[in-house]
Amino acid sequence: MQVFSDTAQIKEVVDAFKAQQLTIGFVPTMGALHKGHLALVEKALANNDKVFVSVFVNPTQFNNTDDLDKYPRDLENDMHLLESISKELLIFAPSVDAMYQGNTVSQQFDFDGLEHVMEGKFRKGHFDGVGTVVKRLFEIVRPDNAYFGEKDFQQLQIIKKLVDKHHIPVNIIGCEIHRESSGLAMSSRNSRLTDKQKKAAAFIYKTLKTAKQYFGTKSANEVTKWVTKQFENQELLELEYFIIADVETLKQIKRKSKTKTYRAFIAVYVGEIRLIDNIALN
Ligand code: PAJ
Repeated sequence: MQVFSDTAQIKEVVDAFKAQQLTIGFVPTMGALHKGHLALVEKALANNDKVFVSVFVNPTQFNNTDDLDKYPRDLENDMHLLESISKELLIFAPSVDAMYQGNTVSQQFDFDGLEHVMEGKFRKGHFDGVGTVVKRLFEIVRPDNAYFGEKDFQQLQIIKKLVDKHHIPVNIIGCEIHRESSGLAMSSRNSRLTDKQKKAAAFIYKTLKTAKQYFGTKSANEVTKWVTKQFENQELLELEYFIIADVETLKQIKRKSKTKTYRAFIAVYVGEIRLIDNIALN
């Protein structure tokens, strides 16, 4: 595996790939890799001549310094996991300085309102940070195809909007959510949960699945009320939001329409660890 920490080296390699008309796949990550990340890498490998994976804990997308400080980092283990999939992978693991050259102020984006709801509402500035780093990564790696998980569905929609509005020539490919056997969505932050908390957190997906069933016959408002009530009895879990939204606008729905596609989105605190998940409803 080739590991790069410097953008100038990547430029040379990418120039050479482009000259040979090789397709480039790209999987941006913040490391602490799990099977959900690795599935994105497998998909990229299956559909591209060359694949870059970036491992960079991006400070500009954290609105909480404690969360940034405690974000799990284990580059050595990440390298082992990636190497076990393919020795042909190209890894980009820059320092904060190499990425930002001392300027960690985010660019301000207009994502047509997608950035003001849910994660954007509860984590101020988060999507300006994500947009800034992903745009920069795309400029460095110049991929043909980039892979993002539906685990962060709002992020996926925002990245599609980013490339559309900024005319960045890359296909954005969404990949399904990978879960633990308990149903808990895989996340780097899960490694910070105690066994007891992890067990309790399985309730999140269990509730989403029942909400999906209820959505067949009940209104969005009734389902939302029911979910909110379920969390009142959960000692270890604190519901931050549960929202049923249109997948295109991400706006909370008032009335169901047969022609629209909906998803339920949830954010829950388990102690000080914040987890998100979502489910397709129709
Ligand atoms: P990170 O949380 O490391 O996630 C990297 C990619 O893996 C994202 O596209 C995310 O949606 C996907 N992913 C995470 N858990 C998943 C799961 N259980 N199933 C499927 N896919 C999953 O998202 C980020 O990093 C950052 O915001 C980033 C895009 C790298 C910008 O800094």
